[in-house]
Amino acid sequence: MTQTHRTIVSRSPGRINLIGEHTDYNNGFVLPAAIDKAAYVRLTLRNDDQIKLISRDFNATYGTTLGTIAPTDKGWPNYLLGVVDQLLGKGTALTGFEAELWGDVPAGAGLSSSAAVECAMLIALNEAFHLNMPRMTMAQTAQAAEHAFAGVKVGIMDPFASLFGKEGHVIRLDCRSLQYEYVPFHAEGYRLVLCDSGVHHSLASSEYNVRRQQCEAGVAEIKQRHPEVQSLRDVTTDMLKYITDPLIKNRCRYVVEENDRLLKGCEDLERDDLKAFGEKMYKTHDGLSKLYEVSCPELDFLVEKARPQNAVLGARMMGGGFGGCTLNLVETDKIDDFRQKMTTAYKTELNKDLKVYVANIGNGGSIQ
Ligand code: GLA
Repeated sequence: MTQTHRTIVSRSPGRINLIGEHTDYNNGFVLPAAIDKAAYVRLTLRNDDQIKLISRDFNATYGTTLGTIAPTDKGWPNYLLGVVDQLLGKGTALTGFEAELWGDVPAGAGLSSSAAVECAMLIALNEAFHLNMPRMTMAQTAQAAEHAFAGVKVGIMDPFASLFGKEGHVIRLDCRSLQYEYVPFHAEGYRLVLCDSGVHHSLASSEYNVRRQQCEAGVAEIKQRHPEVQSLRDVTTDMLKYITDPLIKNRCRYVVEENDRLLKGCEDLERDDLKAFGEKMYKTHDGLSKLYEVSCPELDFLVEKARPQNAVLGARMMGGGFGGCTLNLVETDKIDDFRQKMTTAYKTELNKDLKVYVANIGNGGSIQ
């Protein structure tokens, strides 16, 4: 391997999402932020077509060539190879390379470790091959890679947050126009706290795709009466009456209500009305659990244990669902007490270990 190429190290973070869940692929709004946990890629180009991948965290390697890239059942290489495949598919001229991956975004916790890896890889490739890709194109490339190499029809929120994050801010993204706005996140006296249920459901990806289809089915039915409707973004509560299947109606009702909640929630944040915002977090959880049915008993348990605590203004499951974390808005001075109460309840009532940590909002991905 040649020594003449310089080595590039990139970093791209995981994300949280304050409100606006399962709205991105319905052309709605989301309100994510990057966190201070990230994936890192060390990339060195080669003069041949060999691809050598190393996972520091799994202590594993994987080899292939530019001409034979394909999804693998090994899992972790897919997030690196998927974006390379996308670039090759667009006709980008690449050489072989060696890429080492590591990071501290917990996998399967709903903090989007996969988008963090894809974005770190894209940032490194963009730099190494002087591709001058706009950040939004990178986000779309990561999204397409996830569709093709992980088989999950995700929306754009996760790579967007990983690439566009800004310390001290949440980002309101309109997933239809892709226009976004940085909203300062003050939350004086309160912190965002994650409770990691430790549940990694294998159902998550297949059920995710099913939810997406159910939303499309609802739109198709409404469209027969309202041809102008393109997505659930255009649907009003009143139009839901045209959906005949009660299950599909529930799915769509959740999304329509969630978009509305997000817009009102942003107004709450502008007014520093954290109490009103927290109440919306609980409503989001109820919708995700009962109407959209992407929660699980452990996530419901964690939200129900948070709800009666005066120090907690809001709690809800976060991300795709079926496991991962709950997001809690907790009084800063009471975080230790919250941690104690939650871990004890999880252990005594479910005999499970709970990880509780404060989510710090950080900057989006960059070259190190
Ligand atoms: C996952 C997907 C996102 C989004 C969320 C739910 O994290 O990757 O695109 O749909 O679920 O809001």
